[in-house]
Amino acid sequence: MQRTLLDRIDPAAEGVVSLVLRGADGPLAPWEPGAHVDLALPNWLTRQYSLCGDPADLGTYRVAVRYDRLSRGGSEYIHRFLRAGRPLDVSLPRNNFPLDPAPGYLFLAGGIGITPVLPMLRAAAAAGRPARLVYAGPSLAAMPFAEELRSAYGDAVRLVATRQDGRPDFAALAAELAPGTMVYCCGPASMLTAVEAAFPAERLRTERFRPEPKVFGPDTAFEAACARSGRTVQVDADESLLNALTHAGFPVSSGCREGVCGSCEIAVLDGEVEHRDDVGAAEGRMYACVSRALGPRLVLDL
Ligand code: FES
Repeated sequence: MQRTLLDRIDPAAEGVVSLVLRGADGPLAPWEPGAHVDLALPNWLTRQYSLCGDPADLGTYRVAVRYDRLSRGGSEYIHRFLRAGRPLDVSLPRNNFPLDPAPGYLFLAGGIGITPVLPMLRAAAAAGRPARLVYAGPSLAAMPFAEELRSAYGDAVRLVATRQDGRPDFAALAAELAPGTMVYCCGPASMLTAVEAAFPAERLRTERFRPEPKVFGPDTAFEAACARSGRTVQVDADESLLNALTHAGFPVSSGCREGVCGSCEIAVLDGEVEHRDDVGAAEGRMYACVSRALGPRLVLDL
């Protein structure tokens, strides 16, 4: 964790505040566009937010938080109680949505999904790559950073107020995609579904804030053999591997507990894993909050 002080908390749009966090012990850890951090809130909740400031500024991180009417306590606390000057612990940045080199980019953002896209657009422009942004939200007043984007990038940014103009025509955008252009999209599930239907998968990178609904077989109990410690942990059918390991005293970090943030990644040495995350586990890795063993036993590098 890195210690920060909340430097500013300002309205960024209707129902959205932006937070600027200043490193309390000097420069903060470097990050790349698409990265997010876990914010440890004073009410004991941990929430993930994409970094939406300038990666060249290691003195501060900026994040933006939309008030969620179905808040489980994170956004509500931030909007109602958090004030400038408050110390806040922030994790090291993690990036599940990296910007890969490409001859050109089309960025698609919906609402608060603008946050990871904002530094991506800045990086693409700085690298001299052709880049466009189509940014949709219910109204201009509800779209954070809309003015900042328009004044920085002019015609390269198209703002779509969907209540007035309807949803962007993704099929038309796909039809005019230049060869080699990569598409990066972050937004609500309905937007991601429409975008996934319109663009070829090999040209598209997406980030989800909420897990995609999926169906798996029934949860079964299994054994987690922890090779380095020589201990074996029993995982019951009604608990997650993350919970079983944490209760057994293994310091596995966690954030979302929904398979979207990547905090709880662990190395698997043997056994078959049913991957249930939305991060995309690399070979020999798994996310312990949602993924489970397919067989009776996993061997973990713990
Ligand atoms: S805690 Fe977020 S992916 Fe497991």
